[in-house]
Amino acid sequence: MRGMQPVGILSTGSYVPERVLTNADLEQMVDTSDEWIVTRTGIRERRICSPEQASSDLAYEAAVKALQRANVAAEDLDMIIVATVTPDMLFPSTACLLQDRLGAKKAAAFDVSAACTGFLYGIATASQFIASGLYRYVLVVGVEALSKITDYTNRNTCVLFGDGAGAALLGPVPDGYGFQSFELGADGSGGPLLQQPAGGSRIPASSESVEKRLHYISMNGGEVFKFAVRVMNAATDAVLEKAGVSKEEVDLLVPHQANLRIIDAAIKRFGLSEEKVVVNLDRYGNMSSASIPVALDEALEAGRISEGDTVVLVGFGGGLTWGASLLKWTFQRV
Ligand code: ACO
Repeated sequence: MRGMQPVGILSTGSYVPERVLTNADLEQMVDTSDEWIVTRTGIRERRICSPEQASSDLAYEAAVKALQRANVAAEDLDMIIVATVTPDMLFPSTACLLQDRLGAKKAAAFDVSAACTGFLYGIATASQFIASGLYRYVLVVGVEALSKITDYTNRNTCVLFGDGAGAALLGPVPDGYGFQSFELGADGSGGPLLQQPAGGSRIPASSESVEKRLHYISMNGGEVFKFAVRVMNAATDAVLEKAGVSKEEVDLLVPHQANLRIIDAAIKRFGLSEEKVVVNLDRYGNMSSASIPVALDEALEAGRISEGDTVVLVGFGGGLTWGASLLKWTFQRV
């Protein structure tokens, strides 16, 4: 990004639904136990939408907080990018629904579909528009209502997922700060390992597709696990190298929140102490594209990020996809 306008995250906001689904609740629904879930995943509870809530409702709450904290009006937004695999509907995009609800009249709006890596794909895209000078303020929201596509009769998946939204307002920052590097990747050959098979043009909704439970998340957990550990390490290595930063200089790692064992593998590999890694999956489970921005928002709220800190965001997900970004954090704006 040399020679271009430096771009950073000016503010964040997050929202999770009120309803809590605990491991004890899941014990009543499928053949599982709190002990199995905690030892295999680290998850203790997750938040679940009400029947009336859709992704744009969660996104709206997170977006309003981010805009208020930055003191930027919705009318001043140039673009809205929503990362989600659980849009309100196939079209119009959830970004357009959010644009209308916020009253962000001049903002272009579109969705990004990169599953759990969606927020990273979103900020990498957004930052190009600001770095080039075309736009000033871009709102990126990672939001999921995964409970709506989770099969609560399938213990392999239903213990993992939760609902939530995290928003970040991107804009210009002083030289030397903001995003220092990005790494994005995809391996479409792994698509079948993690998918929602029906509801698109391959298998349109029919009574047969519903009977076969094809509208729910289907996942090969073991294979996704191995892939996740590999790409989290590789993507983190890549952003460190591109930014010319050593792993000892990392002040905070904000990883995708899928499984504590995946995060622990990264902690071990990079020799990070626990206070340098954000973990909130015990309370929220895997919220896919919302996991990283919610974790980042909570870290900021807890005062875990200071001026000049080196912050690494890293994630992986369906697609298969992966991504990472390294920021030199600033609370200054230009
Ligand atoms: N309760 C009790 N037993 C269970 C449960 C459960 N909830 N789920 C699976 N089991 C059983 C399995 O049936 C299996 O039994 P079997 O040996 O009799 O067949 C046994 O536990 C072991 O299953 P494994 O799959 O080997 O368990 P593993 O240790 O791999 O943990 C898990 C499974 C938690 C799913 C893990 O593989 C994982 O986290 N994978 C990554 C998932 C992930 O990150 N997904 C990302 C999604 S990102 C996105 O884009 C949405």
